[in-house]
Amino acid sequence: MKLKIILITGLIAVALVYMFGGKALIGGAPGMAPAAILPAPVSLVQQEGAFSLSRAASVVVPAGDAVLKNVATLFSDKVYATTGLRLALIEGEDAKAGVRFEASPDMLATDGYTLEVDDSGAVVRASSSSGFYYGAMSLWQLAQAHGSKIYMPFVSIEDQPRFPWRGAMLDVCRHFRDVDYVKRFIDTLAAHKLNVFHWHLTDDQGWRIEIKKYPRLTEVGAWRVPAGDAPHADIDPATGQPRLYGGFYTQDQVRDVVAYAAARNVTILPEIDIPGHASAAVAAYPEIGTEPVDHVSSDWGIYYSTFNLEDSTMRLLEDVMDEVLALFPGQFVHIGGDEVSTKQWENSPRIRERMAELGIEDIHEIQAYFTRHFANYLAERGRRLIGWDEILEGGSIADSAIMSWRGTKGGIEAAKAGRQVVMAPSPIYYSDYRQSYLPDEPPGREHVQTLEDVYSFEPVSAELSADEAAAIMGAEITVFTEHMRTAARVDYMAFPRLVALAETVWSPPAAKNYSDFTHRLMPHMARLKALGIKPADSAFAVAFEVTNVGGGEATVALSTQTGAGDIRYTLDGSAPDARSSLYKQPLTLDLGTNIKAASFFGAQALSHGREQMLSHRAFLRREEDELTLCSADLAIKLDDDWPIDGERANFLVDIIKPCWIYQAPDMKGVIGLEIGVGNLPYNFQIGDMINTVDLKTPQTDVGEIVVYRDSCDGGAELARLPLAPAVRSYGVTVLKADLPPAPDAKALCFHVAAAHYDPIWAIDHVQLVTE
Ligand code: ACM
Repeated sequence: MKLKIILITGLIAVALVYMFGGKALIGGAPGMAPAAILPAPVSLVQQEGAFSLSRAASVVVPAGDAVLKNVATLFSDKVYATTGLRLALIEGEDAKAGVRFEASPDMLATDGYTLEVDDSGAVVRASSSSGFYYGAMSLWQLAQAHGSKIYMPFVSIEDQPRFPWRGAMLDVCRHFRDVDYVKRFIDTLAAHKLNVFHWHLTDDQGWRIEIKKYPRLTEVGAWRVPAGDAPHADIDPATGQPRLYGGFYTQDQVRDVVAYAAARNVTILPEIDIPGHASAAVAAYPEIGTEPVDHVSSDWGIYYSTFNLEDSTMRLLEDVMDEVLALFPGQFVHIGGDEVSTKQWENSPRIRERMAELGIEDIHEIQAYFTRHFANYLAERGRRLIGWDEILEGGSIADSAIMSWRGTKGGIEAAKAGRQVVMAPSPIYYSDYRQSYLPDEPPGREHVQTLEDVYSFEPVSAELSADEAAAIMGAEITVFTEHMRTAARVDYMAFPRLVALAETVWSPPAAKNYSDFTHRLMPHMARLKALGIKPADSAFAVAFEVTNVGGGEATVALSTQTGAGDIRYTLDGSAPDARSSLYKQPLTLDLGTNIKAASFFGAQALSHGREQMLSHRAFLRREEDELTLCSADLAIKLDDDWPIDGERANFLVDIIKPCWIYQAPDMKGVIGLEIGVGNLPYNFQIGDMINTVDLKTPQTDVGEIVVYRDSCDGGAELARLPLAPAVRSYGVTVLKADLPPAPDAKALCFHVAAAHYDPIWAIDHVQLVTE
């Protein structure tokens, strides 16, 4: 199959269709919006006209073909979810069927397909179940509603993937997600033609897979008390102890999920962490740890806990591996290998003894000993090991693959050494980073990775020769969930950035175009929601910029991160909808106006409504995200520790230096200030960095927020707000203080003064107060 690459000039076409509202009739069918398929096919040619799927609402597959019947069912379920049209499934022959799946033995690419929609209907041709499935997912995305009818534009598509490994990793250890959620996540990644679900099943904070031979791994290892005073005071009447939080998958559930994934051409990569990230396992079986662990902890960060070198430990881990291999048929098993501390090994005389017996000369070779052992163990069973890039240290391990997460360096080094590589570099493919600077962005790591950052990243480094580049099997987006407590939060952080990754790993790099992507993403946002996903609206959310305040007026400019979509606004307090005023240029508005705005694609909202009050008081307020952090050593937007259900306060704080700057305050007439504060448990394992936490000296038992003029390092102290009224362990408490006149202050700086780093005191907002 010779593939053409068509650069889709979607911008102009989208503009035309939406100027005419999709109402023009072409050949009896309505004018079609440009096909919006994500990831973009290798070649797509759209002709005028459309096929009415509503008129021929059926799918035909060859009789007795279970594979095609499965694909057709998945296809029609998706069409139903996004359009409400139920297609009839016909086995055998039906010349009038709307959609046909036909085997095409001359297809070259295994995962490839062709797709034609014309007057006679739609036909997907492929030579493999994956090719049919991918064709079906493209075809589903062609279905467009016009009035009560569903149409598919006339298209001719030829398509195949760029990389064989197209993945997404979900961490279910930091926060457990149930089987229904895991299935929805898999279904959605598969709908974007990803084919690897990397299931991060074991970590310090939880062991999530039933192992029959070692029941304590889940009886003990799957449960913990969440961090914070409030969860510790939440007593479970059944036990008289603090309520436990967690969960695990039974082997029956795992088999069910594996089959569910296989039906969508997704292979599951199980991750069982060896020899670090081990503390939940060691809490369950203390005898396998270098040092015992007495309970599963709720701390984030990097633990010291490691497995020991006893033969009995190796046997236990091999037994675990045997059960894992019986459940997961894929070629690879991930053994983690990241962030392994040597500290406990260094301190252990017994480890020294075992090193001598095993011929391990250096502490730093212990990890390689584990890796080599399990690489061989897996090879003997016809499987292969993959691990995070730390497994490169301590010697090459034949035939194992590398997942590059500490940036791209490990991946490049491994590829140059001829090792196979999957790129999952932090921070770019780490969805635990925030995706905008908007104040209502949920918790996550401080550094912003926008949708465009993710989209634009090229996983094959220019440093690699063509031969070396062939070692790059593909890429993954990771969803590490420390700061994603709920399913909605996982959705928010993963989508739509996962869709951007999908285009990188599937589509030809030369044809990538971010503007075109965002225009295809607009109609796709509704599809994601119809699949049950709650995607982030950060790329489409409206930001307000207020300038020229004076004479009872202010100028307000509205913008979105992508610039895609229509911004609509109201000035009367009502929620903006698709009929609200269209924003074209900055507005001059009277003070006292509350402007509300959202972005839209036709009638469909792309973002939630957001608002800006035009008042002097509002201009003198800064939310946490609008303050500047004095340093960003370990800056995170954190969730409060309570309540169990419902909204929790969030705080953006650097956990090494709790210090914030209010830049360029308008100090005219300012006589005081109010600071919203809260406290959070210090549940971070950060090794020796804990000794560098930078706090001012307190003058009271609980401590204070100290306000400095211009700078926290050497600026004059303007006020000290005692924290005692805010000692309750959750929510925001507003502290008030007078301020001496400081009309020329270039900045106000706020720094926590406390005797201890725990709890973390953090600012929610600052409000300057005038006479
Ligand atoms: C990792 O993020 N520690 C792989």
